[in-house]
Amino acid sequence: MKVLLINGSPHPNGTTFASLNEIANTLNNEGIETEIITVGNKKISGCMACRGCTKTGKCVQTDDVVNEIIEKINDADGLVVGSPVYYASINGTLKCLLDRVFYSKTSFAFKPACAVACARRAGTTATLDIINKYFLISNMPIVSSCYWNMVHGSNAEDTKKDEEGLQTMRTLGKNMAWLIKSIKVAKDNGVKTPQLEDKIKTNFIK
Ligand SMILES: Cc1cc2nc3c(=O)[nH]c(=O)nc-3n(C[C@H](O)[C@H](O)[C@H](O)COP(=O)(O)O)c2cc1C
Repeated sequence: MKVLLINGSPHPNGTTFASLNEIANTLNNEGIETEIITVGNKKISGCMACRGCTKTGKCVQTDDVVNEIIEKINDADGLVVGSPVYYASINGTLKCLLDRVFYSKTSFAFKPACAVACARRAGTTATLDIINKYFLISNMPIVSSCYWNMVHGSNAEDTKKDEEGLQTMRTLGKNMAWLIKSIKVAKDNGVKTPQLEDKIKTNFIK
Protein backbone atom coordinates (compact mmCIF):
# COMPACT_ATOMS: atom_id res chain seq x y z
CA MET A 1 0.00 0.00 0.00
CA LYS A 2 1.34 3.38 -0.98
CA VAL A 3 0.34 7.04 -0.70
CA LEU A 4 1.64 9.76 -3.01
CA LEU A 5 2.00 13.22 -1.45
CA ILE A 6 2.34 16.16 -3.84
CA ASN A 7 4.11 19.24 -2.48
CA GLY A 8 2.88 22.17 -4.56
CA SER A 9 5.47 24.51 -3.05
CA PRO A 10 8.70 25.48 -4.79
CA HIS A 11 10.43 24.84 -1.46
CA PRO A 12 11.45 21.19 -1.07
CA ASN A 13 11.86 21.71 2.69
CA GLY A 14 9.33 24.43 3.50
CA THR A 15 6.11 24.57 5.48
CA THR A 16 4.13 22.44 3.05
CA PHE A 17 6.81 19.77 2.98
CA ALA A 18 7.00 19.70 6.80
CA SER A 19 3.21 19.29 6.98
CA LEU A 20 3.17 16.51 4.38
CA ASN A 21 6.11 14.88 6.15
CA GLU A 22 4.07 14.68 9.37
CA ILE A 23 1.34 12.83 7.42
CA ALA A 24 3.94 10.60 5.71
CA ASN A 25 5.56 9.62 9.02
CA THR A 26 2.16 8.70 10.44
CA LEU A 27 1.35 6.61 7.35
CA ASN A 28 4.76 4.90 7.58
CA ASN A 29 4.04 4.02 11.23
CA GLU A 30 0.82 2.43 10.00
CA GLY A 31 2.83 0.28 7.55
CA ILE A 32 1.99 2.34 4.46
CA GLU A 33 4.73 3.36 2.02
CA THR A 34 4.93 7.04 1.02
CA GLU A 35 6.52 9.25 -1.61
CA ILE A 36 6.62 13.04 -1.40
CA ILE A 37 7.16 14.76 -4.72
CA THR A 38 7.85 18.51 -4.94
CA VAL A 39 6.40 20.17 -8.03
CA GLY A 40 6.40 23.91 -7.33
CA ASN A 41 10.04 24.28 -8.44
CA LYS A 42 9.38 22.64 -11.81
CA LYS A 43 8.37 24.28 -15.07
CA ILE A 44 4.77 23.17 -15.62
CA SER A 45 2.64 24.94 -18.23
CA GLY A 46 -1.10 25.30 -18.11
CA CYS A 47 -3.67 23.13 -19.91
CA MET A 48 -3.85 23.96 -23.65
CA ALA A 49 -7.45 22.63 -23.83
CA CYS A 50 -6.49 20.63 -26.96
CA ARG A 51 -8.32 17.55 -25.58
CA GLY A 52 -5.53 15.31 -26.89
CA CYS A 53 -5.63 13.50 -23.54
CA THR A 54 -9.17 12.22 -24.22
CA LYS A 55 -7.67 9.78 -26.75
CA THR A 56 -4.67 8.55 -24.76
CA GLY A 57 -5.26 9.41 -21.10
CA LYS A 58 -1.97 11.29 -21.29
CA CYS A 59 -1.10 14.96 -21.75
CA VAL A 60 0.29 15.90 -25.17
CA GLN A 61 2.74 18.26 -23.46
CA THR A 62 5.47 15.77 -22.67
CA ASP A 63 8.30 18.07 -21.53
CA ASP A 64 7.41 18.09 -17.83
CA VAL A 65 6.35 15.83 -14.94
CA VAL A 66 2.60 15.76 -15.58
CA ASN A 67 2.43 12.33 -17.24
CA GLU A 68 4.85 10.90 -14.67
CA ILE A 69 2.55 12.13 -11.90
CA ILE A 70 -0.54 10.67 -13.58
CA GLU A 71 1.23 7.28 -13.50
CA LYS A 72 2.32 7.75 -9.89
CA ILE A 73 -1.26 8.55 -8.81
CA ASN A 74 -2.47 5.48 -10.72
CA ASP A 75 0.00 3.30 -8.85
CA ALA A 76 -0.85 4.80 -5.44
CA ASP A 77 -3.64 3.75 -3.07
CA GLY A 78 -4.11 7.28 -1.76
CA LEU A 79 -3.28 10.87 -2.67
CA VAL A 80 -2.43 13.96 -0.62
CA VAL A 81 -2.11 17.34 -2.32
CA GLY A 82 -0.47 20.13 -0.30
CA SER A 83 -0.27 23.75 -1.35
CA PRO A 84 1.24 26.92 0.07
CA VAL A 85 -1.39 29.67 0.03
CA TYR A 86 -0.71 32.28 -2.66
CA TYR A 87 -3.14 35.22 -2.63
CA ALA A 88 -5.74 33.13 -0.80
CA SER A 89 -5.57 30.39 -3.42
CA ILE A 90 -3.42 27.45 -4.50
CA ASN A 91 -0.04 28.28 -6.01
CA GLY A 92 0.09 28.69 -9.78
CA THR A 93 2.36 25.76 -10.67
CA LEU A 94 0.20 23.37 -8.69
CA LYS A 95 -2.93 24.64 -10.45
CA CYS A 96 -1.29 24.03 -13.86
CA LEU A 97 -0.40 20.50 -12.76
CA LEU A 98 -3.79 19.60 -11.26
CA ASP A 99 -5.77 20.95 -14.24
CA ARG A 100 -3.81 18.73 -16.61
CA VAL A 101 -3.64 15.66 -14.36
CA PHE A 102 -7.36 15.65 -13.63
CA TYR A 103 -8.42 16.56 -17.18
CA SER A 104 -6.42 13.63 -18.54
CA LYS A 105 -9.49 11.39 -18.22
CA THR A 106 -7.47 8.90 -16.22
CA SER A 107 -9.80 7.50 -13.58
CA PHE A 108 -8.74 8.01 -9.99
CA ALA A 109 -12.17 6.88 -8.79
CA PHE A 110 -12.41 5.41 -5.27
CA LYS A 111 -8.84 6.42 -4.36
CA PRO A 112 -8.91 8.25 -1.01
CA ALA A 113 -7.54 11.78 -1.21
CA CYS A 114 -7.11 14.88 0.89
CA ALA A 115 -5.91 18.46 0.60
CA VAL A 116 -3.52 20.40 2.85
CA ALA A 117 -3.07 24.18 2.87
CA CYS A 118 -0.14 26.04 4.45
CA ALA A 119 -0.10 29.77 5.03
CA ARG A 120 1.55 32.45 7.06
CA ARG A 121 -1.86 33.78 8.01
CA ALA A 122 -4.97 33.58 5.80
CA GLY A 123 -6.60 32.03 2.75
CA THR A 124 -6.37 28.40 3.85
CA THR A 125 -10.05 27.44 3.65
CA ALA A 126 -10.41 28.87 0.13
CA THR A 127 -7.30 26.92 -0.88
CA LEU A 128 -8.64 23.67 0.61
CA ASP A 129 -11.91 24.22 -1.22
CA ILE A 130 -10.11 24.59 -4.56
CA ILE A 131 -8.04 21.41 -4.14
CA ASN A 132 -11.00 19.39 -2.86
CA LYS A 133 -12.94 20.25 -6.03
CA TYR A 134 -10.57 18.09 -8.12
CA PHE A 135 -11.38 15.10 -5.87
CA LEU A 136 -15.10 15.82 -5.65
CA ILE A 137 -15.53 15.63 -9.42
CA SER A 138 -13.48 12.41 -9.63
CA ASN A 139 -15.39 9.98 -7.37
CA MET A 140 -12.56 10.14 -4.84
CA PRO A 141 -13.44 9.69 -1.14
CA ILE A 142 -12.14 12.70 0.78
CA VAL A 143 -10.33 11.99 4.03
CA SER A 144 -11.04 14.31 6.94
CA SER A 145 -9.26 15.16 10.18
CA CYS A 146 -9.98 16.71 13.60
CA TYR A 147 -9.75 20.23 12.12
CA TRP A 148 -9.60 21.69 8.60
CA ASN A 149 -6.35 20.52 7.05
CA MET A 150 -4.14 23.56 7.55
CA VAL A 151 -0.78 24.40 9.07
CA HIS A 152 0.46 27.93 9.74
CA GLY A 153 3.96 29.30 9.34
CA SER A 154 6.39 30.94 6.97
CA ASN A 155 8.95 28.15 7.02
CA ALA A 156 9.49 24.60 8.26
CA GLU A 157 10.74 25.82 11.66
CA ASP A 158 7.48 27.74 12.25
CA THR A 159 5.54 24.60 11.47
CA LYS A 160 6.90 22.90 14.59
CA LYS A 161 5.22 25.63 16.70
CA ASP A 162 1.80 24.97 15.16
CA GLU A 163 1.05 22.01 17.39
CA GLU A 164 -2.64 21.94 16.49
CA GLY A 165 -1.79 22.01 12.79
CA LEU A 166 0.62 19.09 13.19
CA GLN A 167 -1.93 17.14 15.22
CA THR A 168 -4.39 17.73 12.37
CA MET A 169 -1.80 16.30 9.94
CA ARG A 170 -1.17 13.20 12.12
CA THR A 171 -4.89 12.57 12.48
CA LEU A 172 -5.26 12.94 8.72
CA GLY A 173 -2.53 10.32 8.23
CA LYS A 174 -4.22 7.91 10.66
CA ASN A 175 -7.63 8.41 9.07
CA MET A 176 -6.21 7.89 5.59
CA ALA A 177 -4.42 4.69 6.68
CA TRP A 178 -7.66 3.39 8.20
CA LEU A 179 -9.64 4.13 5.04
CA ILE A 180 -7.06 2.58 2.69
CA LYS A 181 -6.88 -0.57 4.84
CA SER A 182 -10.68 -0.75 5.07
CA ILE A 183 -10.99 -0.49 1.29
CA LYS A 184 -8.48 -3.34 0.88
CA VAL A 185 -10.40 -5.56 3.33
CA ALA A 186 -13.63 -4.79 1.48
CA LYS A 187 -12.01 -5.60 -1.88
CA ASP A 188 -10.49 -8.85 -0.55
CA ASN A 189 -13.97 -9.85 0.64
CA GLY A 190 -15.62 -9.26 -2.70
CA VAL A 191 -17.14 -5.83 -2.12
CA LYS A 192 -17.16 -4.25 -5.56
CA THR A 193 -16.68 -0.57 -6.27
CA PRO A 194 -19.86 1.08 -7.60
CA GLN A 195 -20.48 0.69 -11.32
CA LEU A 196 -20.11 4.18 -12.76
CA GLU A 197 -22.77 5.34 -15.19
CA ASP A 198 -21.78 6.77 -18.57
CA LYS A 199 -21.29 10.45 -17.96
CA ILE A 200 -24.17 12.73 -18.89
CA LYS A 201 -22.99 16.20 -19.90
CA THR A 202 -25.35 19.12 -20.23
CA ASN A 203 -24.33 22.61 -21.20
CA PHE A 204 -26.20 25.54 -19.77
CA ILE A 205 -26.80 27.70 -22.80
CA LYS A 206 -29.78 29.86 -23.60
C1 LIG B 1 3.24 34.80 -4.04
C2 LIG B 1 2.92 34.53 -2.60
C3 LIG B 1 1.65 34.79 -2.13
C4 LIG B 1 1.32 34.52 -0.79
N1 LIG B 1 0.05 34.74 -0.36
C5 LIG B 1 -0.28 34.44 0.92
C6 LIG B 1 -1.64 34.59 1.38
O1 LIG B 1 -2.54 34.96 0.64
N2 LIG B 1 -1.89 34.30 2.68
C7 LIG B 1 -0.91 33.89 3.55
O2 LIG B 1 -1.19 33.67 4.72
N3 LIG B 1 0.36 33.67 3.14
C8 LIG B 1 0.69 33.94 1.85
N4 LIG B 1 1.97 33.69 1.41
C9 LIG B 1 2.93 33.06 2.34
C10 LIG B 1 2.98 31.53 2.17
O3 LIG B 1 1.71 30.96 1.98
C11 LIG B 1 3.59 30.88 3.40
O4 LIG B 1 4.85 31.42 3.67
C12 LIG B 1 3.71 29.36 3.24
O5 LIG B 1 3.98 28.80 4.49
C13 LIG B 1 4.81 28.96 2.29
O6 LIG B 1 4.86 27.54 2.20
P1 LIG B 1 6.18 26.79 1.71
O7 LIG B 1 7.24 27.05 2.75
O8 LIG B 1 5.81 25.36 1.65
O9 LIG B 1 6.53 27.35 0.39
C14 LIG B 1 2.31 33.98 0.08
C15 LIG B 1 3.61 33.70 -0.41
C16 LIG B 1 3.90 33.98 -1.73
C17 LIG B 1 5.29 33.66 -2.25
